[in-house]
Amino acid sequence: MKIFSEGLLDMAAIRNDFPILSRKVRDGKGLIYLDNAATTLKPRAVLDAVYQHYANGASNIHRGVHFLSEEATRQYENARETVRRFINARDTSEVIFTSGTTSAINLVAKSWGEKNLKAGDEVLITHMEHHANIVPWQMLREVTGCILKVAPINDRGELIMEELEALITPRTKLISVVYTSNSLGTINPVRDIIDFAKKHGAKVLLDAAQTVAHEKVDVQKLDCDFLVFSGHKLFATSGVGVLYGKREILEAMPPLMGGGDMIKSVTFEKTTYAELPARLEAGTPAIGGAIGLGAAIEYIEKIGFAAISVQENDLLTYATKLISDLPSVRIIGTAAKKAAILSFVVEDIHPHDMGTLLDAEGVAVRGGHHCTQPLMSRFKIPATTRASFSFYNTRGDADALVLAVRKAIEVFS
Ligand code: ALA
Repeated sequence: MKIFSEGLLDMAAIRNDFPILSRKVRDGKGLIYLDNAATTLKPRAVLDAVYQHYANGASNIHRGVHFLSEEATRQYENARETVRRFINARDTSEVIFTSGTTSAINLVAKSWGEKNLKAGDEVLITHMEHHANIVPWQMLREVTGCILKVAPINDRGELIMEELEALITPRTKLISVVYTSNSLGTINPVRDIIDFAKKHGAKVLLDAAQTVAHEKVDVQKLDCDFLVFSGHKLFATSGVGVLYGKREILEAMPPLMGGGDMIKSVTFEKTTYAELPARLEAGTPAIGGAIGLGAAIEYIEKIGFAAISVQENDLLTYATKLISDLPSVRIIGTAAKKAAILSFVVEDIHPHDMGTLLDAEGVAVRGGHHCTQPLMSRFKIPATTRASFSFYNTRGDADALVLAVRKAIEVFS
């Protein structure tokens, strides 16, 4: 792979790294994959790493003394070190492998939340949260009697920061906020939110599921308390994700699940727990998934976020202009600071129908509420059509999207 000096990518080489991009769909049409916010495609580097684990390794970790088990353990722990470096955590004990963003947030809600929140304590989220950052706090509310507050957004899909700050009180224990909205593309001012939280003694959880594939995240610089993301939105496989937490916070969290690998010793009378990170990783984890995640991170580090953001910003600007020029289209999410996610509605065409018509042209998008039903209600719509871009997408993909949307509008008129 070659990266040109002005920061542009060698697109032919990049696209060649993703075997699926040569697939034909729907009567031999080339695949135009614009559903990257749902899941990203997998480069050869990840496919090879996962394949090698199962073809030549396939052993369980931390248990065996045999060659293959030692090798798998080393590779799994190397992947943890790669994640640590990627997000700049202080220590690998701060990197807990989970099955994804959802399980990471649920782990914090159930373990940290149930231990630290009492009736009347507050958790502050925002109106643009994914269900995975709403429902676990409602479940915590059932158990503890805590209060769930919601920071409002404006019509562009940006947080109203004065109102968010005004909602923070001495009872606010946690602000749990999406870094980059999966439905709107809004990139939230997380630096300011963390500063507000510190002033009031609240902790901050950042849902970075839609962030880590698009921009550099440094947990020490941010000084967030928790940060969560999924492997499958970062070019790795599904079933693996990460909970980052500050060591002193994770150390005080009771394990949510008991079982193998999280213990020091077990008798029928008493069990003692292992140190972090094993203490929060009961049972056999997604070993091949974690190894693949390490490979995915190394792959995108080689490309670099500078080149990735040049490509994605160009695609966003280009596609936004073309889509806006179409008749009866309304873009949902027009924040000043946006990731390459383009959600829109077209008068008289339900997003599910639009998704089906686009699919017939070989264009894969998501049509639906994107697991953000309260956000859809805020905009008084049932759903949107969402095109979400990655660095392997081209302006040609955006052209194909716009052509297919135009065709759908013609069919419906
Ligand atoms: N949360 C993922 C999405 O936005 C699945 O599509």
